[in-house]
Amino acid sequence: MGSEDIRKKFLEFFKSRGHAIVSSSSLIPDDPSVLLTTAGMQQFKPYFIGKADPIKDFGSKNTASIQKSFRTSDIDMVGDESHLTFFEMLGNFSFGGYFKKEAIEYAHEFIVKEMGLKIEYVSVFKGDSEVPADIESEKIWKSLGVSDIRKFGRKDNFWGPTGSEGPCGPTTEIYVKNITGKSIEVWNIVFNEYYCRQSQHPTSNIPARLRMDKVQAGGQRPTLEKLKTPGVDTGMGLERLAMVVQKVPTIFETDLFSPIIDVFPKKMPDRTKRIIADHIRGSSFLISDGVQLSNRGVGAVLKRLVRHAVVETLLGIKDVTQAQQIISSIVQRIIEIYGSTYLNLKKEEVLRIYVGEIEKTEIGMSKWFKEFDRQLSNILNRPNLKSDWGEQAVASGQIDYLASTLYLTFGIPVRVIKELLAKRGITVDDRKLQDTFDREFTKHQEISRAGQEKKFGGHGLLLNTGELKAKDEEELKKVTRLHTATHMLQQALRDVLGQEVKQMGSDITVERTRFDFTFSRKLTREEIEKIEAMVNAKIKEDLPMQKQVLPKAEAEKTGALYFFKEKYPDPVNVYFIGKTLETAWSKEFCGGPHVGHTGEIGSFKIIKEEAIGAGVRRIRGIVRP
Ligand code: ALA
Repeated sequence: MGSEDIRKKFLEFFKSRGHAIVSSSSLIPDDPSVLLTTAGMQQFKPYFIGKADPIKDFGSKNTASIQKSFRTSDIDMVGDESHLTFFEMLGNFSFGGYFKKEAIEYAHEFIVKEMGLKIEYVSVFKGDSEVPADIESEKIWKSLGVSDIRKFGRKDNFWGPTGSEGPCGPTTEIYVKNITGKSIEVWNIVFNEYYCRQSQHPTSNIPARLRMDKVQAGGQRPTLEKLKTPGVDTGMGLERLAMVVQKVPTIFETDLFSPIIDVFPKKMPDRTKRIIADHIRGSSFLISDGVQLSNRGVGAVLKRLVRHAVVETLLGIKDVTQAQQIISSIVQRIIEIYGSTYLNLKKEEVLRIYVGEIEKTEIGMSKWFKEFDRQLSNILNRPNLKSDWGEQAVASGQIDYLASTLYLTFGIPVRVIKELLAKRGITVDDRKLQDTFDREFTKHQEISRAGQEKKFGGHGLLLNTGELKAKDEEELKKVTRLHTATHMLQQALRDVLGQEVKQMGSDITVERTRFDFTFSRKLTREEIEKIEAMVNAKIKEDLPMQKQVLPKAEAEKTGALYFFKEKYPDPVNVYFIGKTLETAWSKEFCGGPHVGHTGEIGSFKIIKEEAIGAGVRRIRGIVRP
């Protein structure tokens, strides 16, 4: 049975049982509390909570759909036999039309009669202090002749949104065996009896990448309120169902994937093929729903997929032209597989984005690896780490931090980072690494989100660290030069005027840098010229601007400057100008970004010096190519 037949059978089955067929909504939900559409129920949220009337909108209290869905929570598991980012979710829903009996009977009939599968076992909610055991579902399953009924708690048999509010309730899940004998969960039936209310700010404790997945994913327990009308929400992944129906050992061997997998050279490892296939497929759907590459929100998710797919392809197929051909063939296959079901697929747009990324990655890749090596040696070669350096660096979390910043900045896949480390004899703890990634990713998202909303009303900004803002690549380059120049200015001020100089504030726009500092009097003409000349001399020397990640206490001991008003993370980045941290001319705690070498700044000029308060001076400076 082909996947197109499965889709048809599913919709016909529910249509003939009084369900209105509703088409898939976009992967980008209207609901601002979630980033992506992760389940079929997303578009029906208002009907579950009584805010919209299904009779008025669909002519029925029962609906069915095949929903394009995307989950970032499984992204690192992609590559095994069953995890995906993008998938299609078959679902039937009821908003007060029917409840447990019909929902379970429909599922049973569809799986056993329509799909010809044998139910291995089912699971039901075992009950806890808040929610009673689901004895009713157990009875219904028994009446249908299913004897293996397993009982689980909140972690496994309760579904609702994580990190946001929404309908939720106990579930019953159906498991069948695949061709290799492994039990696979194919269908999740949720009885929406409650509304989950978050007791705190919705996203506070949960990594952004986990939002809107199973409640069990983490975070504190929400408060449950009984819904007026209980509802049914079901979800069955098409790819997994196709895997068991088509009797293949992995989803990548179903008719939804095998034409894509066939494009790759035979010798390429399966894992790599699967990651590339999944990521190109997922990104094609995101792009077709209007997502653009960006550094935040869903644009960042897209960037990560595209970048990973390209890096993996380039690592696997050393020849760029061949890599490009493979990616185009995959996109072509995706259009062939999905084009008639999803008419909005934008082949040209997908190709355009990939071609751009291949070019950029090809140029960047060797640089990234060099950067990785450089930063790694910075960590490992510090004198007090000489003995057991690797272990200590791993223990103090610096390697994790380095790996996660590289990953977030360059999008180098975790697997690749781990391989690079392994080559140097360093093994990292997957869990710890993942925790650091989650933490840094959330921070990254929060920083850009907060800055974004405050200053730009949420539109078109490439970078906003609070101190630095840029709307495109060109501006980014300019503010980066100004940023490094500002560090140099501070050091020159201290060299010429003395230790009395302390930073009081700074602000960088694409036109100029503005630096406020403590000093008791107006600067003389000579002093200004001397400071300017010092900065320009250091620019001429073309010194490397380097970064070292250090535990905060240790970073403070290096004598690096830091701004007292600023809150720095621990470990912290110390940016230094010079060959080594010990001998560096300028050292500062800073989030970056900076130029690679001072020569890139061009030249520096002070355009204004003035007082802005008692004992506080302000300098404005510009850079020229
Ligand atoms: N909404 C439920 C799920 O995604 C059916 O598993």
